[in-house]
Amino acid sequence: MAIADRVVLVTGATGILGRVVVGRFAAAGARLGLVGTQLDRLAEVARDQGLAADRWVAAVGDLRDGAQTRAAVKSVADRFGRVDVVLHLVGGWTGGTALVDLDPAELTGMLDQHLWTTLNVVQAALPGMIAAGWGRVAAVGSRPALEAAPRAASYAIAKTAEDTLLRTLAREAAGTGVTVNLVTVGTIDEQHQRDSAGTPKNATWTTPEEIAAAFLFLCSDEAGAINGARLPLDRHG
Ligand SMILES: NC(=O)c1ccc[n+]([C@@H]2O[C@H](COP(=O)([O-])OP(=O)(O)OC[C@H]3O[C@@H](n4cnc5c(N)ncnc54)[C@H](OP(=O)(O)O)[C@@H]3O)[C@@H](O)[C@H]2O)c1
Repeated sequence: MAIADRVVLVTGATGILGRVVVGRFAAAGARLGLVGTQLDRLAEVARDQGLAADRWVAAVGDLRDGAQTRAAVKSVADRFGRVDVVLHLVGGWTGGTALVDLDPAELTGMLDQHLWTTLNVVQAALPGMIAAGWGRVAAVGSRPALEAAPRAASYAIAKTAEDTLLRTLAREAAGTGVTVNLVTVGTIDEQHQRDSAGTPKNATWTTPEEIAAAFLFLCSDEAGAINGARLPLDRHG
């Protein structure tokens, strides 16, 4: 089955990456479940990306909450019959404080945003994919976070936890027809500054379009042997 026939659930659909991913998967013919906390923002994305009414559905929910996440995933499955792909793109960054001065609430907030949303969405979506014998999960890891950057402890800990969760899930899903992969980037280059005004600093940035292209490949039938990968998209080698 080509991606054109797939049902693709995009969390973080209103984010700087989510918007581009929605457009690229829509252009490839996928049906889309757009997930976020505000209906009007989801509708704006659908309008901006020119989605036909019968090709998408909005699912509103705070993914930090398990019940709201299950309801959001169910509403997409109810609308289109199933969920084949989860692109988990919930974002957010809090930091700037040295670890010794860190407010524990900041760490809790980042874990809520990155770890618990991930657990909630995969727990809601994976059983259906495994029952169908086919599925794809993909997300974006942060290389600086995985390598532990100063004054970014909350974000780094939360993204590392998300990474471990997803690579554990990949091991557990092995052989089911479901794959779970990450792409890793440093900074998402929304304005294409790397190409329009290159500097040593932005030389390793990654455009949303490059990430969307990697997702399209990871979600293809041909990528079915790739599971548990961290695909680097930041020229680090
Ligand atoms: N931006 C970067 O430079 C960068 C670098 C490395 C990795 N990443 C990763 O790339 C991915 C996409 O990042 P981004 O920069 O595109 O994100 P973003 O622009 O900050 O957008 C955040 C998205 O997350 C959604 N969201 C936040 N909290 C939510 C919640 N509790 N429940 C449901 N949805 C929630 C927001 O939806 P609403 O506000 O509409 O509800 C919004 O669509 C993330 O995994 C991020 O960690 C980004």
